[in-house]
Amino acid sequence: MPGMIDTHIHAPQYMFIGTGMERPLLEWLACTTFPTEDIFLDVEIARNIYNAVVRRTLRNGTTTACYFATIHTDASILLADIASQYGQRAFIGKVCMDRNDTYEKYSETTEESIRETERYYKSIAYSIYKRVKPVITPRFAISCSEKLLKELGKFADEQDLHIQSHISESPAEIKEVLKLFPDYKNYTEVYNRNKLLTNKTVMAHGCYLTNKELHVFRERGTAISHCPNSNISLCSGHLDVRNALNHKVKVGLGTDIAGGYSISLLDTIRKAIETSKILYMTENSYHVLTYKEAFRLATLGGSEALSIDHITGNFEVGKEFDALLINPDAKDSPFELLSPISTEEVLQRFLYLGDDRNIKAVYVAGRCVVPFISNN
Ligand code: GUN
Ligand code: FE
Repeated sequence: MPGMIDTHIHAPQYMFIGTGMERPLLEWLACTTFPTEDIFLDVEIARNIYNAVVRRTLRNGTTTACYFATIHTDASILLADIASQYGQRAFIGKVCMDRNDTYEKYSETTEESIRETERYYKSIAYSIYKRVKPVITPRFAISCSEKLLKELGKFADEQDLHIQSHISESPAEIKEVLKLFPDYKNYTEVYNRNKLLTNKTVMAHGCYLTNKELHVFRERGTAISHCPNSNISLCSGHLDVRNALNHKVKVGLGTDIAGGYSISLLDTIRKAIETSKILYMTENSYHVLTYKEAFRLATLGGSEALSIDHITGNFEVGKEFDALLINPDAKDSPFELLSPISTEEVLQRFLYLGDDRNIKAVYVAGRCVVPFISNN
């Protein structure tokens, strides 16, 4: 099957995956996330964690990942280097934040953030990496001044760069954004007026976007990364993915490690279907997401969201070969083929029950990247 695409994952947060999810978003950021990301100033810590996260995502069938790193330029460049060495297709952003009232230590000045973003961009853009691209990454509106948003939007526009951020994830977050940006009519406007919504932008969550805001997303060609595990784990909310699709907004899936606790897009597929079933149980006219639709979101949808659907996402002639070799009857795997079933049923069972034991090999652009070659 085509390789899976994680449109939103925080590489440094792999350090505390599966822990610390008792708090809602803003407290979780202040108490767990910022203190952990802060230590990535140490590139040896970064090397250890980034090696693990690239290996583990690849092992689980993520052929393309769109990563947030930290505010540290050198560690972010290191992540690019590691992804490139392992052969993963990756979009990687040095995180920008010039405002952090909840954990002041972990922030930059506006000038630093812009200067370091340029240094980071140059280092990746002029590198030998073929399938690793830089992404302009204002963390979210709360952690950026208007000046920083404007400068980053301008820089992305001049260099025609990919952009990623978070939007409308939780009610408390939205309230804070509207307080910090009183001259803007809604959250979408904060990014849109600063040139950050383009057809190369992917925004994580979007649980509370109104139809008017979705309309702007559609007009700008901006994508949503649907992160259902994180949305539930941090009690943020639910994205009505059917409504986003009906508005013809591009949608991909994201693990949002470590707001989400699973590195595997198979888990994200399951949580996306379950989220849509929860919405159905409160509103019966709702059309539940089918497993085929969720599969599409994890593959072609992700490539559309990252504007690489001309290169990857399915097996159309002319695209690069990003693929998983599935063994539906692997020894000690979570399911076995006790009776003959159709290919569609094999796929369905893999999506619902499978794990990395059923993934025999992973290819990116025709190169076999799992099993890992020795000494990696
Ligand atoms: N909003 C701003 N930063 C983050 C983050 O690291 N994770 C999540 N889930 N939301 C955010
Ligand atoms: Fe996130």
